[in-house]
Amino acid sequence: MTDSTSLNNQAFELYNAGRLKESEKLSERILTEQGENYGALINLGNIKYLQKNWPAASEFYQRALKCRPEDSVALINLANTSLEQKNFALAARCADAVPSKDSLHAQAMAVKGDAAMGRENFKEAAQWFKEALKEDKDNFWYHNYLGQALQKEGAFSEALQASLRAVELSGGADSQQINFGYALYEIALEKGVPFIKKYLRRWQSLYPQNNQVRYIVSALDSDGKFDRADADYVKNIFDFYADNFEDSLQDLEYVAPQKIAEEIRRSPFPAEKILDLGCGTGLCGKALAKLFPKAALTGVDLSSGMLRKAKESGVYKELICADAAQFLKEKNGCFDLVTAADVLTYFGSLKDIFAAVAGALKPQGHFIFSVSRNTLNDKDYFLHLSGRFVHRREYVESMLAAAGMHTDSCREVILRQEAGNPVQGWIFMASAV
Ligand SMILES: C[S@@+](CC[C@H](N)C(=O)[O-])C[C@H]1O[C@@H](n2cnc3c(N)ncnc32)[C@H](O)[C@@H]1O
Repeated sequence: MTDSTSLNNQAFELYNAGRLKESEKLSERILTEQGENYGALINLGNIKYLQKNWPAASEFYQRALKCRPEDSVALINLANTSLEQKNFALAARCADAVPSKDSLHAQAMAVKGDAAMGRENFKEAAQWFKEALKEDKDNFWYHNYLGQALQKEGAFSEALQASLRAVELSGGADSQQINFGYALYEIALEKGVPFIKKYLRRWQSLYPQNNQVRYIVSALDSDGKFDRADADYVKNIFDFYADNFEDSLQDLEYVAPQKIAEEIRRSPFPAEKILDLGCGTGLCGKALAKLFPKAALTGVDLSSGMLRKAKESGVYKELICADAAQFLKEKNGCFDLVTAADVLTYFGSLKDIFAAVAGALKPQGHFIFSVSRNTLNDKDYFLHLSGRFVHRREYVESMLAAAGMHTDSCREVILRQEAGNPVQGWIFMASAV
């Protein structure tokens, strides 16, 4: 074993152990001591890729390709980086250069599919994913991508078949269940619920014990079986989306945290201890920290993935992974302010959660939250096809009163966009009496 091989192995091991700084230093040392070195350049490219530094990753992979022209790993990695940079032409060129007998050829076909998706050529994308499946027929991600391409193309039945196949081949992995549930929801919006029923029943029969499947099925069936979101569903979906949550919500023009902050600016009050229920990645916490720079901020959330991001925000004194209702039960007269931005949409019945908030507030403490409006029927609350609850204003007010809180204000807002439509709702401000 040459020196550089053993050092490269050490650098790869450090990378795999998540010790990126040490791994990077070692690969840089190889380059300084030995000049251009394929292994070190690939490792540095992988580190930059993980850090989402696409230009740097791309440069390292291109240098690796100069050391070993036509190397499939360097080509595929450069192709994936080019996809992230939306350079679809370069991604497709790299994939084309992978020899047909190479073990990475199926991946190269999938990259071509991704590049076609990026160019919104969904028919071509579906063709490439089918090519990838010819070589790797049980790869559930290729079935998943095929499903997404077919759905975009408008081939809804085939899309659902491919996505359900992905669920089965993955052994019911959470990522695939989430994707299939979402495909069902989007196709139900497009084609109506009767269109998806056959697939819904099949999914239900395959995973009768899976709580998140039961919950989504209930939402799509509108059967009223749930009066709050299933905890497994909430955990899985937010763990899955945590890394992209803030970007997607920005795209959806999400404004609940800003609207809560505006409400506080309208009628300012002092607060030393603040609880941010369902704090997520910390969007509301960041707004609160500006308004109450000296306050101790506690964040509670069911999703450890979201809490990891909230920790990075640096605004919370403590972060707790727990169910909001359970957490509140152990707190008595603790907080000057409790906030819940886009969280009560995971609660249908507000009776218990409002009583728990009232118990956790100090006398005259404030509770500020958003709720989405039930525009579909005259029920107090209703589980929408999306898996989120919508509420009737009078119901919210009556539940606040029942919990012994006073409604100080209720302002109509557009909380965000959903499937191209505005989500109407309210920002409520209430106080403990
Ligand atoms: C749409 S996000 C909103 C996050 C944050 N409040 C914001 O405005 O960006 C909803 C958050 O509520 C959390 N959540 C939902 N139900 C919960 C529960 N019962 N207990 C604790 N957290 C919950 C989810 O995990 C998720 O992070």
